[in-house]
Amino acid sequence: MKRERKPEIDVESLKGPKEAQKAAKTLRDSIGFHNYRYYVLDSPVISDPEYDRLLETLSLIEEKFPELKTPDSPTQRVGGEPKSELGLIVHSIPMVSLKTVYDEREVHAFDRTCRETLGSEAVAYVAEPKFDGLAVELIYDEGVLVEASTRGDGKTGEDVLANVITIKEVPLNIQPFGGEPIPRRLTVRGEVYMSIETFHALNRQRAKAGEQAFANPRNAAAGALRQLDPKVTAERELQIFLYGVAEARGVKFETHWEVLHTLPKWGLKVNTSLSKKCKGIEDALKFYREVERKRDGLPYEIDGVVFKVDNLSQQETLGMRARDPRWAVAYKFKPRQATTKLRGITVQVGRTGRLTPVAELEPVQIGGVEVSRATLHNFSEVERKGVLIGDTVLLERAGDVIPQVVMPVEAVRDGSEKKFRIPKDCPVCGERIFISEDKKTATCNNLSCPAQLRRSIGHFVSKSGMDIVGIGKKRVDQLVDAGVVTDFPSIYEIEAEDLVRLEGFAERGAAALIEQINASKSRPFDRVLFALGIAGVGLQTARVLANQFESIDRLMNAERRELEGIEGIGPELAGNIVRYFGLSHFGQRNRGMIARLRRHGLTMSTRKAASKKGDLAGKTFVFTGSLSKWSRSEASRLVEERGASTSTSVSSKTDYVVVGDNPGSKLVQARKSGVTILDEGEFSRMLD
Ligand code: IVH
Repeated sequence: MKRERKPEIDVESLKGPKEAQKAAKTLRDSIGFHNYRYYVLDSPVISDPEYDRLLETLSLIEEKFPELKTPDSPTQRVGGEPKSELGLIVHSIPMVSLKTVYDEREVHAFDRTCRETLGSEAVAYVAEPKFDGLAVELIYDEGVLVEASTRGDGKTGEDVLANVITIKEVPLNIQPFGGEPIPRRLTVRGEVYMSIETFHALNRQRAKAGEQAFANPRNAAAGALRQLDPKVTAERELQIFLYGVAEARGVKFETHWEVLHTLPKWGLKVNTSLSKKCKGIEDALKFYREVERKRDGLPYEIDGVVFKVDNLSQQETLGMRARDPRWAVAYKFKPRQATTKLRGITVQVGRTGRLTPVAELEPVQIGGVEVSRATLHNFSEVERKGVLIGDTVLLERAGDVIPQVVMPVEAVRDGSEKKFRIPKDCPVCGERIFISEDKKTATCNNLSCPAQLRRSIGHFVSKSGMDIVGIGKKRVDQLVDAGVVTDFPSIYEIEAEDLVRLEGFAERGAAALIEQINASKSRPFDRVLFALGIAGVGLQTARVLANQFESIDRLMNAERRELEGIEGIGPELAGNIVRYFGLSHFGQRNRGMIARLRRHGLTMSTRKAASKKGDLAGKTFVFTGSLSKWSRSEASRLVEERGASTSTSVSSKTDYVVVGDNPGSKLVQARKSGVTILDEGEFSRMLD
């Protein structure tokens, strides 16, 4: 078959239907070949615009000569007219199911039966993924796709040809691309599925439109295939993997492995890369474990591995049971989804005062782990998911990912379910809570809310923070409940007698803890910054901030713009930092706390900054007017830390007069006596 890669056809110059028919065939062959390169070999040889150009040219020809429009033309993929119902198709060879097993013992039993029946020591198997989609049968007659149906009850399925035509990976014609002649009639079977990415995109779109989400990609794929409007199927971007042949007239296969490797040569998509020919059952089990490890990285869902006897005459010898063959078995992975009862929704208060709704569940096993709680993220999410207290909910846990409530199972509601009411007050301290308009953030702004205090103290003393070994979670609760610890600085004000009053503290224990508290004073500046628990400031950000600003004073006075200019610090984080040190009650409290921590001797600057200590020794500064970055006393302290002294009046001993807004008579005096005058920018640069 001659196949030009990019046939150049000028539609206008086509003289009559004969020439047009020839041109249409050339284009269809070419498009078929490029589909094969793209979808089956995953190795296209033309660009997308070049491919689109071929399709457009074919469309133009078909428009001009409508009699040339054939049902298997690639221009028909977009989806035809909706149907009033899906017709039925009787499968000439029943579409059987697979026996499912859940542990190795059952797999060994399957292997034993195969070996005993065949009288051989080891049986060769093909192991391939069990795709989590919807089984379909495709029939190609003289190379043309003429029938597509679902499994239905195995004997009769639904006619889904109009919908299947819209799946780009399904060739409308099969051709001998790989050199192997095509069968006169071919009945192939496989799985139609939706990729995880497409599934999430679809659910996002449905959420926006106020439509119910699909529980999983399988349901989404089935919904797309078994509905009446092919245009809807086309939009859902379904995909296919073929995994078996029921009939191939004129072609003889010896093994299943040969089947899997021949189908792609005709343009049919097979997942050969995740299939393996195994010498015996141990080999197959090894492959199962390998696939299970890869599962979370795959772009589509699989729910197990299928083991099939490779030799087709051995398959025949083994034969069938009532509903499934004796020559194959599906070894399923542990399920990732489960349903359970939502007993209630509690509200948790985080370290920064953020409130999070948490689903309290009847304990259930998912993927080998018992789950009894799951975060619901925020109040808007509770409303979006539409879960009611008392609902049966679908839970999901993928790999290491924390369990999620996917959706309620509305069909089993009995009317006793109750709507969750967003609380008005903090469940821990009772203070009014603040809820953003979109209901995505809710916070308790009470700085002494015990829930926040416990968590923030826990964070402050943690290993990555001030690393005070003797204060674990229980001790934090004890110290906070007893009122010994009321904020960060109060940790450094603990006295032995405060401790010995508490349960579990002997005198020696108390002394040891105080020693550890004192030792924590030498933690470097970045760790102190982390320990403060500014929202969004993790260890890495704390390090960046410490390097960039070198001292807490400079950081406290940093402007939003300056912070946003630092790599890795976005607007939200910059906002959090500015707010933490700002002028509100919250910022004032934090500044006060930092002053007390400084007095207790905690490290408030980097070593690099410390090495600057003394570089202004012997200099005298006078400040006049107001500076924007610092208060007068902060600026004085900054220069004093570096060895300078300050004075309130200009004299012959004055070295620098720092001038802010609305300066007083000191500026006049400075000018008169010829003292160096610094504006705020010059002063700031001097400090750098
Ligand atoms: S073979 C006689 N291979 O599993 C064997 N089935 O319970 C017939 N499935 O309805 C099926 N991946 O939808 C086979 N690699 C695979 C499969 C697979 C998924 C589905 C198929 C079938 C169900 C059987």
